[in-house]
Amino acid sequence: MQKGHSAVVAGLGAWLPPRVVDNDELSRSLDTSDEWIRTRTGIRERRIADADTSTVDLAVQAGGNALRSAGSDVVDALVLATSTADQLCPASAPQVASGLGLSGIAAFDVNAVCSGFLYALATAGGLIAGGIANRVLVIGADVFSRLCDPEDRSTLPIFGDGAGAVVLRAGDADEPGALGPIDLHSDGELADLLIVPAGGARQRVSAEPHDYFLTMQGTTVFRHACARMAESARTVLERAGQDVADVDRFVGHQANLRILQATAKQLGLPEDRVVANIARTGNTSAASIPLALADACEDGSLRPGHRVLMTAFGAGLTWGSTLLTWPDVKPG
Ligand code: COA
Repeated sequence: MQKGHSAVVAGLGAWLPPRVVDNDELSRSLDTSDEWIRTRTGIRERRIADADTSTVDLAVQAGGNALRSAGSDVVDALVLATSTADQLCPASAPQVASGLGLSGIAAFDVNAVCSGFLYALATAGGLIAGGIANRVLVIGADVFSRLCDPEDRSTLPIFGDGAGAVVLRAGDADEPGALGPIDLHSDGELADLLIVPAGGARQRVSAEPHDYFLTMQGTTVFRHACARMAESARTVLERAGQDVADVDRFVGHQANLRILQATAKQLGLPEDRVVANIARTGNTSAASIPLALADACEDGSLRPGHRVLMTAFGAGLTWGSTLLTWPDVKPG
């Protein structure tokens, strides 16, 4: 990478809506139990956005916190990773930019569902590498509670709402915080494994209300998630010339604690390297990796100098990984 053209993490922000819904509360309206949800997923509670709070609102909060953490609100571009944009059209990123007082900058959405944050990092890194932007705000934000059928016990307990963000600045590849190799993949043949069938351009309306909600083949998704995340993690380690033993913290997409544990096991990573905040957030889709980074910084388990492996998997299917050395950055 040309000197000065690497993307370097310069700020970190998180935001969760205040309303906590624990497993017992869910069990009052759904045929499930705290015990089932905890043992099958590791989730104890999740945050749910109020009816009048949207993805844009969450993204503005997390983005503002990341800009504060970076110590400057100067950015040339905003990339929003989301699959729950406020409207089907237009994209939500320009509204987020305006909400942050940044009207005029380049702003667009990236939709790679739960892998969205990694795809957005790659996109922002490309803007920096190409000399198009010097500083980019990357936000992952989703309100997946809106996509879940309140009567579907196979999806509702798993998801939560939230937003997380980083500021990337142009810098050098050997600096702490510089993004290492990035590995991204997709397989549209398996789109039906996790899908909201109606509401998009192919089927604008449906007589079947359930078509507007997420349907998921959980067990198959579980299998693909473990295999693809491990595969992609190995790819970036190999490209970086590093070994699993070099990884201090594994920050995987928080979909299910058992997926994180199984992936770590496949990689030969000890469990104490696994960052897991899913117990209190659930699966927050594109927000999950930056939220996990922020939580790990707050509780002291992620420290400057740690080698961090980030890996995600999501609907699409999509998956990918990247590496970095954690810089001296704290959540704003
Ligand atoms: N409460 C109680 N029982 C439930 C339940 C719930 N919330 N959800 C499913 N069950 C039941 C099923 O009906 C089934 O009952 P049966 O054996 O009588 O038929 C049983 O529990 C086992 O269901 P199954 O779906 O096989 O469980 P699982 O161990 O695969 O766990 C998931 C289900 C969804 C937790 C798991 O498959 C998973 O996490 N998949 C990945 C999902 C994911 O990560 N999605 C996002 C990707 S980014």
